[in-house]
Amino acid sequence: KLCGGKKSYFAAVVCIITLASVVTISYLKSQRLSVLPKIIQEGRKCRREIANNIITPLKDNKTLIIAPYFDSRESKVTRVIGIVHHEDVKELYCWFCCQPHGKVYVSKSKIDVHSDRFGFPYGTADIVCLEPPDCDPTHVSIHWSPHGNIDQLPRFEIKNRKAETSSVDFTVCISAMFGNYNNVLQFIQSMEMYKILGVQKVVIYKNSCSQLMEKVLKFYIEEGTVEIIPWPINSHLKVSTKWHFMQDGTHIGYYGQITALNDCVYRNMLRSKFVILNDADEIILPLKHPDWKTMMQSLQEQNPGTGVFLFENHIFPETISTHTFNISSWNTVPGVNILQHVHREPDRKDVINPKKMIIDPRKVVQTSVHSVLRAYGNSVSVPVDVALIYHCRVPLQGNLPRESLIRDTTLWRYNSSLIMNVNKVLYQTVL
Ligand SMILES: *[C@@H]1O[C@H](CO)[C@@H](O)[C@H](O)[C@H]1NC(C)=O
Ligand SMILES: *[C@@H]1O[C@H](CO)[C@@H](O)[C@H](O)[C@H]1NC(C)=O
Ligand SMILES: *[C@@H]1O[C@H](CO)[C@@H](O)[C@H](O)[C@H]1NC(C)=O
Repeated sequence: KLCGGKKSYFAAVVCIITLASVVTISYLKSQRLSVLPKIIQEGRKCRREIANNIITPLKDNKTLIIAPYFDSRESKVTRVIGIVHHEDVKELYCWFCCQPHGKVYVSKSKIDVHSDRFGFPYGTADIVCLEPPDCDPTHVSIHWSPHGNIDQLPRFEIKNRKAETSSVDFTVCISAMFGNYNNVLQFIQSMEMYKILGVQKVVIYKNSCSQLMEKVLKFYIEEGTVEIIPWPINSHLKVSTKWHFMQDGTHIGYYGQITALNDCVYRNMLRSKFVILNDADEIILPLKHPDWKTMMQSLQEQNPGTGVFLFENHIFPETISTHTFNISSWNTVPGVNILQHVHREPDRKDVINPKKMIIDPRKVVQTSVHSVLRAYGNSVSVPVDVALIYHCRVPLQGNLPRESLIRDTTLWRYNSSLIMNVNKVLYQTVL
């Protein structure tokens, strides 16, 4: 019998499974082949001019390119940090032009939209392309099609191409300065605290700030501490000031903070031993060590192979002040004097304090704000008796009386050098 019966039923199942596997395997094979770089032209001159803006929209109006980075940690790829519409952008291609024979290679990218999109239609994406095996391209163009003319595409330098050894120990990334930022006094104090704790570089993604702040930033740029990355994200997308989508027609959360953080990790991957991802009103205060260098040495010894260190955030409300360190010459400067805010809110039952991170950038693939999404090695929570984040801002538990807060004067240990350094900056800038 051909039809019916247990035997032929079994045969049919085997047949279907075999067919399905053949189709799957050949599909996977074709997928692998399609991501391999293909030569589409030869003997042309590779152009020199490049796109200089930090945010470059592609002609599809759905893709923004931030910057390409060479990444050889898993295979030889160009990883382009970008922002894409999570549904509308389905295909993107890397176009490489290789000297000396002017070969143009096209490879299909893997578009990896980060999982922390929080409901917004646009999200951070890694646009990852295999590089031609026989050349180390210095530039790449990104296009929605494998066909076209490379001369008409914007061209980007591939950063991190040359091996470097870390030239600094600590770099702080401030992900988005926006809303005509004018908290001048607190900013200067944070900067001086970072420097006291061991920071050599602060990278700021600047959307907008006040004239007075511009003056202060100019001082720190000339000093060599601050690097400004212009961040005109709202010229391209409707930005939200919230981190999660409120069904309000906005495109991306919190001024594209997550994209800025990821770009900052890659931008400093080779040049900084550690990268700190926090806001300008947050300071990681070590309690057992005088500075970050000794603290990180000890944390690394205790946690070999760990590349991500998480620190707990604690709120010191700007509404609760002390008279100590009420420095009269500072009262004309806009912003908060953190030395006067040494009361912290107690932990709440059922509320987990958010964390911020010190990372080894070479061990991180994708980062979010309070944790990493992909990394080599594990993450470790640093106990609050080793360090906590001093975060001076409007209260979260505003109804608590002063007596219910915890007096914590750890910051005062640094008072004399902090006051001296802040005065130096103030007299050279705003006073
Ligand atoms: C992109 O936007 C510009 C200006 O709004 C418009 O002229 C153009 O047609 C758009 N392109 C696509 C592919 O939607
Ligand atoms: C600080 O001193 C000024 C006078 O110089 C005073 O007006 C203000 O109330 C004081 N603030 C605090 C919190 O002590
Ligand atoms: C300020 O710092 C000095 C040491 O630099 C210390 O002796 C003094 O106690 C500190 N002041 C306060 C109020 O903690």
